[in-house]
Amino acid sequence: MTVPHIVGFSGSLRRPSKTRALVEATGKEVIHGRAFRFDIFDVVDAGPGLGGALMREDLTLPASRVIDAIERADALIIGTPVYKGAYTGLFKHLFDLVDPLALVGKPVLITATGGGPRHALVVEHVLRPLFGFFTALTVPTAVYASDADFKDGALADAGVRARLGEAAGQLRALLDHRPAQHAREIEEPAFRQQAKIAAA
Ligand SMILES: Cc1cc2nc3c(=O)[nH]c(=O)nc-3n(C[C@H](O)[C@H](O)[C@H](O)COP(=O)(O)O)c2cc1C
Repeated sequence: MTVPHIVGFSGSLRRPSKTRALVEATGKEVIHGRAFRFDIFDVVDAGPGLGGALMREDLTLPASRVIDAIERADALIIGTPVYKGAYTGLFKHLFDLVDPLALVGKPVLITATGGGPRHALVVEHVLRPLFGFFTALTVPTAVYASDADFKDGALADAGVRARLGEAAGQLRALLDHRPAQHAREIEEPAFRQQAKIAAA
C-alpha cells in the first residue's frame, strides 16, 4: 500500500510567513504519528515564473513542479494570507492554472491568516467556493488565525490550536476512507461527468 501524500500550499509571498507556519502546523497535526508523507510549498517556491504564465505551458519548472505536486497529492492543506478581504492574487493565479478535473473528490483542508479577526469568514466565503468549483472534498472545519494568535512566528493560541486539531482529525478520517472514495468514482462516472460540465 502506498503512503498517502499530503501537499501543503501557502499563498504568502514572503518568508517567514504566518500562513506557511499555520499550514506546516496543520500538516504535523494531521500526521499525528501516521505514515503520511507531507510536503509544503509556497508562492516563493513557485518563483517569478508563476505570475507571468497565462497558460500551463508558459510555466517555469519551479512553478510547474508546485502545480504538479498539488494535482498528484492525495490530500491538500491550503492556506493564504487575507489580502483585501480575499486570497492573494498569486494564490488564485496558481489555482487558475490547475487542471479543473485534478481536484475532483480530493480532500482539502482550508486555512487562512489575517491581520485581525474581521475577515475570519474568508475561509467560508472565498476559499470554500473556489474548491467547490473544483468539486474537491473540503474538510468541514476550516482554520483561521490572526496576527495575535502567533508568538515568535508559531501558532500559539489554544483556541485556534483546538480548531486545527479538529480539522486535522477530519482530514485523517477522509484519508482513512480513501479506497472507498476511489471505488465510488469508478462506480459512478456521472460524478466525473458533472465535474466536466462544471468546468466547461
Ligand atoms: C497587501 C496586504 C493586504 C492585506 N489585507 C488584509 C485584509 O484585508 N484583512 C486582514 O485581516 N489582513 C490583511 N492583511 C494582513 C495579512 O493578511 C496578515 O498579516 C497575514 O497573516 C500575513 O501572512 P504571512 O505572514 O503568511 O504573509 C494584508 C496584508 C497585506 C500585505
